[in-house]
Amino acid sequence: MGVFETIGTETHESVHFGEDKASGLRAIVAIHSTALGPSLGGTRFYDFPDEDAALVDVLRLSKGMTYKAAAAGLAQGGGKAVIIGDPSVLAHDDLFRAYGRFIEGLAGRYITAEDVGTTVANMEVVATQTSFVSGLPVESGGSGDPSPATARGVLASIRAVSMHLWNTDSLHGRRVAVKGVGKVGLALVEMLTTEGVEVVVADVNDRATEVASTRFGAKVVAVEEVHTVACDVFSPCALGADLNESTIPELACASVVGSANNQLAVDEDADRLAERAILYAPDFVVNAGGIINIAAETDGYNLEKANDMVDRIYDNLTEILKASDTLGVSTEKAAEHIAESRIDAATKQGGGS
Ligand SMILES: NC(=O)c1ccc[n+]([C@@H]2O[C@H](COP(=O)([O-])OP(=O)(O)OC[C@H]3O[C@@H](n4cnc5c(N)ncnc54)[C@H](O)[C@@H]3O)[C@@H](O)[C@H]2O)c1
Repeated sequence: MGVFETIGTETHESVHFGEDKASGLRAIVAIHSTALGPSLGGTRFYDFPDEDAALVDVLRLSKGMTYKAAAAGLAQGGGKAVIIGDPSVLAHDDLFRAYGRFIEGLAGRYITAEDVGTTVANMEVVATQTSFVSGLPVESGGSGDPSPATARGVLASIRAVSMHLWNTDSLHGRRVAVKGVGKVGLALVEMLTTEGVEVVVADVNDRATEVASTRFGAKVVAVEEVHTVACDVFSPCALGADLNESTIPELACASVVGSANNQLAVDEDADRLAERAILYAPDFVVNAGGIINIAAETDGYNLEKANDMVDRIYDNLTEILKASDTLGVSTEKAAEHIAESRIDAATKQGGGS
């Protein structure tokens, strides 16, 4: 399929192709929107089955970044990059230097960061060629690992849901089931137990659940069971599509608030949750702590300032939950609506980078 055919009716501002034969670099950068500011999004390094699959992915992911940044109230647009190939073969410094020159050529309309298949160390090599890189280590003046900020944003979201449903900010005595206790999930478990929350966890990795149990007293259940646990909040922090046609009827929670990307298997799952009166906090709003933390690098990173910015997820989500009630639409639709109105307003004012 041709490039313009693949782009179809999508409204990306531009798509850029970079190649460096010597290092084997083949990369695509999709800039979905710069209406609110320079586009920001990670670089995914993956052995795509073909170029078309890579293009489809980068178009989808860059659009998602526009919505995530806009819903978070950031002065950032949405972009994303893919490098095509097997990182275990191709991920060497020459390739990342060539990639850095490609990013530099986009003159700041796209700011990159690490993503699946790339590391902070790779980004440090990219940074030797361009300043349009974020998420660098703290020692290099960057914001470091975004996971603690993401967990902080999930906690702020759980608090906003608590206020909406139970009219209290206090989480003391609540029960939360966390699926996936990796970087974000474990940090969340720690924060929740500090708040006096009873935590139930599940993970395919037994070592991860052991840490959650021994260090924070979490109760461990089987991965197949965790979504059926009777609780106030189910928190998917593993992979995507945990909310689907077969799991939603089995949920025994009052709300879903987690960090995993793409929790809804299909769009209709938002309505399925609403029909069961389960409050779903849209994933791209809840898990924005990471990107907010990275965006905080813009004027020189400062942890306190970054934490304050992440804590605003509470207000963002509260606005979305209220809009969902007022407009009579799912929380997912309400979040998209608010993001789109921010982008439209900036476009009308002639915003952009
Ligand atoms: N790290 C961030 O800052 C960040 C930001 C935004 C979104 N997210 C999303 O949050 C989720 C967690 O991210 P992370 O950085 O903690 O990743 P991670 O890889 O550190 O942790 C994921 C955990 O989930 C477990 N897991 C995998 N498959 C599972 C399954 N089927 N059932 C139960 N457990 C399973 C893994 O064993 C691991 O412990 C991901 O979906 C990620 O895309 C993360």
